[in-house]
Amino acid sequence: MTYFESCQRQLPVLQKKEHIRILAIESSCDETAAAVVEDGRRILSNAVYTQIDLHALYGGVVPEIASRAHVEKVDWMVDQALKDAGMALRDVDAIGVTYGPGLVGALLIGVSCAKALAYSAGKPLVPVNHIEGHICANFLTSPELEPPFACLVVSGGHSHLFSVDDYGVFRILGQTQDDAAGEAFDKAARVLNSPYPCGHLLDKLAEEGNPLALKLPRPRTEGRYDYSFSGLKTAFINAVHNARQKGERLNDADLAASFRQAVVSFLVDRAMLAARELSLKKMALAGGVSANRLLRREMEAACKKEGVDFYMPMLSLCGDNAAMIGSAAYYRLRRGEIADLTLNARPALRL
Ligand code: KG4
Ligand code: ZN
Repeated sequence: MTYFESCQRQLPVLQKKEHIRILAIESSCDETAAAVVEDGRRILSNAVYTQIDLHALYGGVVPEIASRAHVEKVDWMVDQALKDAGMALRDVDAIGVTYGPGLVGALLIGVSCAKALAYSAGKPLVPVNHIEGHICANFLTSPELEPPFACLVVSGGHSHLFSVDDYGVFRILGQTQDDAAGEAFDKAARVLNSPYPCGHLLDKLAEEGNPLALKLPRPRTEGRYDYSFSGLKTAFINAVHNARQKGERLNDADLAASFRQAVVSFLVDRAMLAARELSLKKMALAGGVSANRLLRREMEAACKKEGVDFYMPMLSLCGDNAAMIGSAAYYRLRRGEIADLTLNARPALRL
């Protein structure tokens, strides 16, 4: 019997098992992470190694450096996750792994490691979409959350409003036509001389500033629930450069607050328009930008006003981590979605 045939045979038994524990691996960008998650909802361990310091010197993620650091760290993180969960590899029921979207070299490290572990232990291999993982961070935070719900996914590479119709069933309601929200935050923060990665620094600086100090344009889009951040970003950068050329003294906190307010108001307004027009009852946030303090506050207030239940991931699960991949892998395993050893990295994978 081949490895894959043996995994297929295990499926009916696993699907009836009372508790399923998944070892998950995430390496799509600049975090090397491993975690053990039980039944898609309970974190038994969550080990994250962030490569930020390695890339800070270059002002952004350098793919070759990311791949090399993943190779060096991935085994350590897997050992750490198993140790923290008090388990050995034989105790887990399956191996989940992010196979896209992301940097191809970075993804390949996690995928190769997961394949080797799955094959050597004879456990099913569950491929997970990184974006689906971000959405599932909400299942680890809010035990009561069940589909259907809407989810605004805002990260460094994505800005999408999804309808999560069921576990593993997603519909795009709206998406960015150009930059992602996180990318816009990073570029705006760079103009204010923040070191990479700077979205959270701009957020912190903005807490002290006046959001009405700089007037920014309201982006236009074709689709009613779509987003666009590139015009907003350019307007901000031009305003700062023009003022500097004229020798005007600008307050960085006011600039940060104005930019953050413009991005957040746009994100919240469009999501709430969809909530009203499509009678959405539940709204969740996900992705790195869901850590943004103003976005969390304003989305919560807007949902309360509209009578929509609001969910957001705990702060430690907003950025990239493997616990969210373990949650997504659980629901995929329940549906029998396992991979054989030909699984490859898919850098442009869509949800
Ligand atoms: O989800 P994530 O960790 O990686 C991707 O899958 O892209 O998101 C990273 C993005 C970066 O652009 C980072 O600057 C942004 O999330 N970010 C924030 C905040 N924390 C992280 N943006 C605004 N406010 C924050 N507090
Ligand atoms: Zn991410």
